[in-house]
Amino acid sequence: MTVTIKDVAKQAGVSAATVSRVLNNSGYVYEDTRKAVMEAIDRLQYKPNEVARSLYKRTSKLIGLVLPDIANPFFPALARGVEDKLQQQGYRVIFGNTDSDATKEMDYIDTFLQHNVVGLIASVDRLHHEVLSNLRVPVVTVDRTAEELPAVYADHKSGGRLAAEKLVTSGCKQIIVLRGPQDAKPLYDRFQSAMQYLSEKNISVNYIDCQLSFEDGRQKAKELFNQFPNTDGIIACNDLVAAAMLYEAANRKRKVPEQLQVIGYDDITISEIVHPSLTTIHQPTYDMGIKAADMLIKLINNEKLGTIHEQLPVYLKERNSTVNGGI
Ligand code: RIB
Repeated sequence: MTVTIKDVAKQAGVSAATVSRVLNNSGYVYEDTRKAVMEAIDRLQYKPNEVARSLYKRTSKLIGLVLPDIANPFFPALARGVEDKLQQQGYRVIFGNTDSDATKEMDYIDTFLQHNVVGLIASVDRLHHEVLSNLRVPVVTVDRTAEELPAVYADHKSGGRLAAEKLVTSGCKQIIVLRGPQDAKPLYDRFQSAMQYLSEKNISVNYIDCQLSFEDGRQKAKELFNQFPNTDGIIACNDLVAAAMLYEAANRKRKVPEQLQVIGYDDITISEIVHPSLTTIHQPTYDMGIKAADMLIKLINNEKLGTIHEQLPVYLKERNSTVNGGI
């Protein structure tokens, strides 16, 4: 049975208002009364109702986090950075998985506001940024960011170029690029910069649209190997899709990297585990989460931000799916 504030008041022999003053450290309470209330709380194992408490104090320590796809290991790594930083400052995170669906994004944001969150961190495709504007709490966008809002993101223009440059300098002549969903700014930026580099180097290139899942990667890999049997280099839109390419190459007995080189993007854990291990572009995912949370805490505390847009560097992580790969 849930212990209520009335049970604590009865046990301590005081009014519920006195218990509330002790809980919220507001108004004067005699020391022996405070002691009696605290003893009653311990004895009854009373846990304050955070929503009721936040309504009373009109503030909470809750932060809403909106992510597109928690089945993709990139986003839990991002969430981990957010949560570690917020937890240190006494905040608690509630989050919603949206599948980049505008209705789900709006539903979660409404729910978060009804639960008195004091701030929001969101990774939202650019066609849906309007759901983030004019909210009554501070908002920081992360990874899939909004120009008009505080933002933390990785340098995808460099990332796309690094991926293309790696395959070209490793000898690839017929490259296929898996183009991720272009409504997601990171995917748009790195696709454009990879294609620009390949055009500058007059490399034969084709692209195939692909979602960001292993399952869609499996489908598109079959299509790719059937349509472009002579390809010798694949730039995947992320590591899950790159893993699908390696899987299909193995099924077709294509030797990686001797006959076919593959590069991914994100540097999630599986990129080290797949065989051959995956060359990829490392995103500072955890650090982006930390920085987004830090930016939000400053906004909640009305502190001035040095900059409202923070871009973090990416780097090439060479492994064994490309020639001269790392160990
Ligand atoms: O793998 C998921 C991708 O979508 C990542 O590259 C990240 O940038 C996210 O936007």
